Amino acid sequence: MTRVIMNGCNGHMGRVISDLCAQDDDVEIVAGVDIDTQTPYGYPVFAKIADCNVEADAIIDFSHVSCIDGLLTYSVERSVPVIVCTTGLSEEQNAAVRAASEKVAVLKSANMSLGINTLIELLKPAARALAPAGFDVEIVEKHHNRKLDAPSGTAIALADSVNEAMDGAYEYKLDRSSERKKRDKKEIGIQAVRGGNIVGEHEVFFCGTDEVITFKHTAYSRAIFGKGAIEAAKFLAGKPAGFYDMGDVIRG
Ligand SMILES: NC(=O)c1ccc[n+]([C@@H]2O[C@H](COP(=O)([O-])OP(=O)(O)OC[C@H]3O[C@@H](n4cnc5c(N)ncnc54)[C@H](O)[C@@H]3O)[C@@H](O)[C@H]2O)c1
Repeated sequence: MTRVIMNGCNGHMGRVISDLCAQDDDVEIVAGVDIDTQTPYGYPVFAKIADCNVEADAIIDFSHVSCIDGLLTYSVERSVPVIVCTTGLSEEQNAAVRAASEKVAVLKSANMSLGINTLIELLKPAARALAPAGFDVEIVEKHHNRKLDAPSGTAIALADSVNEAMDGAYEYKLDRSSERKKRDKKEIGIQAVRGGNIVGEHEVFFCGTDEVITFKHTAYSRAIFGKGAIEAAKFLAGKPAGFYDMGDVIRG
């Protein structure tokens, strides 16, 4: 049985994970953390993670960037592995995540779904075959109108995968309106659409002369991220300090 602290337990993802854990005999949420401490679930909820005095094997975090510093301090001080799923972290916060991973097991992924993590791997051979043949790479992502960060962390992770396969040769272009010039061959354009209750769509276009190849992932429900996070918690419990990603969970 993996005992989990749910950071951001009253948010959309916190509730999805609470429901999934209630149906899973191998995992239990033993405490939650949220500024809103009311809960329909049976576990205690603390307003700040620093106040949480419940023993656990892993922390799942779907909260807000303002929670990250306290989350990492708690994880390191109590030696509780942490799965950081909140997106939109600053460069300093990403560096703090890496620093924490030298002392405790940390898993960070912009997208916890099996499908996206498989796509991240599939893009590498596609980029190696198509980019040298002159194909331009563009990414479009779509999310609900409540999302705070843009482009999505997943869109960046997809771009990183292409870029890694091409030895880091690409720049990311987030805005074409501020200058009037043709696109550079060595850039990946990333555009964000926000509206309604779109759970998450990502399209990666390889655009050549007279042909376009499109990789598309559609999330129809937040449960795909919740299931991935729960599998990550089971995987990370008891692991030594280090930086892990969903690829490690999928490979087992
Ligand atoms: N990695 C992934 O696969 C993935 C998937 C979905 C969402 N996300 C990210 O997870 C985060 C949460 O998403 P969501 O849709 O559940 O958001 P949400 O706004 O519905 O939930 C966030 C929760 O965190 C709580 N919170 C905010 N500030 C707090 C603080 N200072 N202390 C304690 N609690 C605080 C809020 O009260 C809320 O209940 C976002 O950054 C989102 O982009 C990541």
